[in-house]
Amino acid sequence: MSNHALENAAKALRDGRCVMAFTGAGISVESGIPPFRGPGGVWSRYDPDKFEKNYFKCHPEEVWPLLKEIFFDMLGRAKPNPAHRALADLEAVGRLHGIVTQNIDGLHQEAGSRVVHEYHGSTRRMQCMKCRKFFDSRDISLETLPPPCPVCGGLLKPDFVFFGEGIPSDVHHASVDLARQADVCLVIGTGGTVQPAGRIPYVVKNHGGVIIEINLYDTDYSYRTSDYYLQGKAGQMTPELVQAVLG
Ligand code: APR
Repeated sequence: MSNHALENAAKALRDGRCVMAFTGAGISVESGIPPFRGPGGVWSRYDPDKFEKNYFKCHPEEVWPLLKEIFFDMLGRAKPNPAHRALADLEAVGRLHGIVTQNIDGLHQEAGSRVVHEYHGSTRRMQCMKCRKFFDSRDISLETLPPPCPVCGGLLKPDFVFFGEGIPSDVHHASVDLARQADVCLVIGTGGTVQPAGRIPYVVKNHGGVIIEINLYDTDYSYRTSDYYLQGKAGQMTPELVQAVLG
């Protein structure tokens, strides 16, 4: 990737009045969390239909072991990588106003980012489908599956969006509001293939914002939406870009 693109992208970032980031699974790959699509993707090994809300409600004893394997077993092991930390650094100096992430791994917050809209929820919380109470996932043992609600014994569901479920309206509105204000959007590690999340960069673009994309491969954004497309690993490219901005 030419330094030209990096330098120009860094200038656009520096000139930004309200900068945001929109991130996907690709930003956590270098933390050891596999992406959903592409080489080694989760959906090439597991059937996404099992993670549809009604299927889960009817077959919790089948789905919960899969949830543990895919999302919870690696939860404790995965740590923020330089890409997560670079965004936290950018926010700390007041040059990043917020992140909209599709990820449910909580790594942005763990890296120190404070304004993080978790568009698809989080593995860090669970909710009982009977008494509606919320629990910190760290307080729920996964020795027996499905894990019973500690209060009423009902079925616990991880607090992330299953297929067929709507986006929580508060996080949807906060995310769109941020995108409406942003004049620069960093799009990192996402193919934008899942809606409505994938529309966030278009909200920025449609009111004249600048899109800076970091991805390992071409995406639907790359040649018609992104003003700058920095091809490479997020864990390497993001800190390089932030370094070029902060000097
Ligand atoms: N650095 C940068 N980008 C990477 C890297 C990397 N090291 N590795 C993979 N990528 C890119 C891929 O090229 C792809 O564009 O990350 C993207 C991963 O795509 P997906 O796995 O589809 O992840 P995402 O776009 O976040 O998926 C959106 O789909 O299944 C649902 O709810 C789930 O939030 C998820 C949503």
